[in-house]
Amino acid sequence: MKLAAACVMLLLCAACEPPGKPGPEPVSQEDITDFTVLFTQNCSGCHGLEGRNGPARILNDPLYLAVMPRDELRKTIENGRPGTAMPAWAKKNGGPLTDKQVTALVDGIEKHWARPASFKNTKLPSYSAGDDHGNPANGKKVFAKDCFMCHGPGMRIGPVTDPTLLTLVSDQALRTSVIVGRPDLGMPSYRNLAMGRAMSDRDITDVVAYLSSLRPVPPNVQPEHTVENGPGQGSGNGPGSPQQKNNESKTGSSVRGGNK
Ligand code: HEC
Ligand code: HEC
Repeated sequence: MKLAAACVMLLLCAACEPPGKPGPEPVSQEDITDFTVLFTQNCSGCHGLEGRNGPARILNDPLYLAVMPRDELRKTIENGRPGTAMPAWAKKNGGPLTDKQVTALVDGIEKHWARPASFKNTKLPSYSAGDDHGNPANGKKVFAKDCFMCHGPGMRIGPVTDPTLLTLVSDQALRTSVIVGRPDLGMPSYRNLAMGRAMSDRDITDVVAYLSSLRPVPPNVQPEHTVENGPGQGSGNGPGSPQQKNNESKTGSSVRGGNK
């Protein structure tokens, strides 16, 4: 049940430290461009001290950073992941950090934790699945073969098929976990997940499609818990959200939780 514990920790740390909340010292926070200070103040509560061993994804990992494109890293920090506990950090998105500070974080993460030379001749899976929505039926077989021994019901790590867990994470986060594993917590990377061999890009995409198909609600159309994202990013039922559009098209139907 370690996964469930991580989930709870995620919610707790998200609840008590909303991003952008002014600290006790009204010192000009915007002047801080030191990577270690920025990361410790803003990120380690979820991603762990030194970017590992936190409830949220390990960032201090050369394989992860070899797979994660720099512009994608920057965009994720700026925009967060709507519908998950990962808040938007850029001022332009209502977060606390200036452009310069986001740059300092991106540079610092790459400078301290990336080892591009180690992957120069390795063909890595692509970070994103793009428009490929995968085949859940094949994914189910992949899960039984490559994941069940750790994540099946009653197995030692905890079920990643749990709908509650799945509503908290994006498909990208699932994909990232399958590719990179959790080296800080003992989950191997894609390189060893297929019975000690590398999983194919096909199987990675399909196993994510399978997990995604188990969600009780579509990704990013979230119930209450997304208030963790801080002011202005409420339940995902607000104006412009997919849920809202859905409701508008079905006049009078009341789909989850009192939109008026
Ligand atoms: C050898 C055991 C093992 C195998 C095989 C394994 N995992 Fe994991 N997995 C782990 C461990 C350990 C964790 C960390 C659990 C925790 O949070 O305490 C984890 C965590 C995860 C998470 C949550 C990631 C996070 O950031 O906390 C996902 C999603 C996941 N695994 C998916 C999969 C999928 C899909 C497969 C099959 C392709 C798979 N795992 C195979 C051990 C394994
Ligand atoms: C309140 C908890 C929380 C805080 C604080 C937080 N994150 Fe995250 N972060 C998450 C969660 C949860 C995810 C996974 C979201 C998802 O499901 O896609 C995530 C995802 C990410 C990812 C993408 C992981 C992937 O799938 O490739 C990056 C990069 C990232 N965070 C960087 C940061 C940085 C840098 C900071 C500090 C400025 C930060 N995060 C602060 C919770 C947090």
